[in-house]
Amino acid sequence: MLSTAFTELVGCEVPIQQAPMGAISPPALTLAVARAGGVGSVSAPPGIDTRDLAAQLDALVAAGAGVLAANFVTEPVDPTAVAVAATRVRMVDFFWNRPDRRLVDVAHEGGALVNWQVGSLPDAVLAAEAGVDVVTVQGTEAGGHIRGDTPLLSLLASVLRAIDIPVLAAGGIVEPRAMAAVLAAGAAGVRLGTRFVASEESGAHPEYVLALLAAGPDSTAITDGFAVCPMCATLPRARVLRSAIEAVDAMDGATVGTLLAAGAETPLPVRAGLPPHRDVRGEVHAMALYAGQGVQLVTAVQPAAKIVRELADGAEALLRVW
Ligand SMILES: Cc1cc2nc3c(=O)[nH]c(=O)nc-3n(C[C@H](O)[C@H](O)[C@H](O)COP(=O)(O)O)c2cc1C
Repeated sequence: MLSTAFTELVGCEVPIQQAPMGAISPPALTLAVARAGGVGSVSAPPGIDTRDLAAQLDALVAAGAGVLAANFVTEPVDPTAVAVAATRVRMVDFFWNRPDRRLVDVAHEGGALVNWQVGSLPDAVLAAEAGVDVVTVQGTEAGGHIRGDTPLLSLLASVLRAIDIPVLAAGGIVEPRAMAAVLAAGAAGVRLGTRFVASEESGAHPEYVLALLAAGPDSTAITDGFAVCPMCATLPRARVLRSAIEAVDAMDGATVGTLLAAGAETPLPVRAGLPPHRDVRGEVHAMALYAGQGVQLVTAVQPAAKIVRELADGAEALLRVW
């Protein structure tokens, strides 16, 4: 059993958090990871109705999930929604906003721990000062929106010197060697996005998954090319497959496809920051195909539980050898 300060604090079996990824991480993925002993994460999109959020979280709890996290991105975050989540999940999770003691207090009052994903040393220090229980450091290797400018190992080292709470490492980790490396470097666990996009329970559009599996070395780049999204309003930066940048640059017209929501098809603008999920139709190859630098090592679609076991058992075996 791979026990760390994170597993002991949070009560999960293995130090792996599935990254919240909107519709790419539907309840089936959250449940599978949590049941496998990791932390299953749910996205609480900006403006979500608190009754819908409560119902979604209650359903997961009733389904017998293990340890859950609920993720809030961008400002302003609705404190009422945080309070609703905090009474239902073990960990409330924030990203893409400055650490805020008020929100931390609301989560604590509801009985949850708080995790803040940051991309820089100053933000990690601010998060610790705001009273968070866990900091996730996101290196520039990560898939999706990129907060900072520093590669993972160097950011992790500087943050570990500065703060004294469990730190998760995120960015480019898809296999046991990288997980063992960051644990050996002092991380208390890992947060994985890209690897779970290629899981059986993922909500990703099949063409997105195929593009990930086909990606070779140096196949991702940080771009402002998919900036039609609320997160990009403050900082238009995300790591995607290079093939998607080339495809969108070659597009004419204002729409790239359609999005099926609440029974209606709505047009999806070219350069939308929405990663294509199963209810999207159109030129999927020219959409925001978020992928971290580890994508070249993602070669198969597997059940999420198998991914959790492969990473945890593999990292543990490697660390034992040392
Ligand atoms: C498709 C996708 C969507 C993401 N959406 C979110 C999100 O909604 N909230 C969040 O905190 N992080 C999000 N992230 C970033 C992750 O939290 C994490 O930093 C990243 O996935 C780690 O890098 P990796 O993808 O190489 O594992 C997303 C990542 C991906 C790949």
